Amino acid sequence: TTYHVGVLIGSLSKQSINRKLFTALQRLAPSAGLSLTEIPIGELPLYNYDYDEDYPAAGKALKSAIEESQAVLLITPEYNRSIPGALKNALDWASRPWGTNSFAGRPSAVIGTSPGAIGTAVAQQHLRSVLSFLASPELSQPEAYIQTTPGLFSDEGEVSEESTSEFLLDWLKAFHAHIEKNLAAQAE
Ligand code: FNR
Repeated sequence: TTYHVGVLIGSLSKQSINRKLFTALQRLAPSAGLSLTEIPIGELPLYNYDYDEDYPAAGKALKSAIEESQAVLLITPEYNRSIPGALKNALDWASRPWGTNSFAGRPSAVIGTSPGAIGTAVAQQHLRSVLSFLASPELSQPEAYIQTTPGLFSDEGEVSEESTSEFLLDWLKAFHAHIEKNLAAQAE
């Protein structure tokens, strides 16, 4: 089975290395039985609960894109040892209005890249804590902390290191198994 996965990318930069990682994952995904589609977060206003009475189109679009996905992949940079504000803002939008949390029960996985060797480990832990609260069953293992070196990812999503592309494909396969297990359990 091919699963349809919505993807939130935590960086809004045009040069984002996490967007390059997304492109690489998107190329590898069909070999793991996944289809990856970005869910854009850059046009969302800053959330506050005054919006709950009359959710704006951008908030509704985010929620329905997540709800139409069988699983969600979150690709995050690490900004100041946490997730970027833009990503937290999107998670807050998706979680509300109260009682309509779009992540509830939806399987997810977290990955990220940074030039630093331990880059994104701390951000990913923060993100996991939010996803736990949102009741999204996360892929706990294997973890994926990708150190970006110059030329590792091309703009077209090619991966120059064979070991990295093998690791990413195995990781996507583990995510596929995680989705399968969770959707089967929900169908019981
Ligand atoms: C960073 N960077 C960074 N890197 C890291 O490994 N840990 C960190 O805590 C931070 N903090 C941080 C804060 C801010 C505001 C910026 C702009 C950058 C460096 C970061 O990993 C690098 O800029 C990546 O290119 C960010 O990913 P994107 O946005 O290119 O996908």
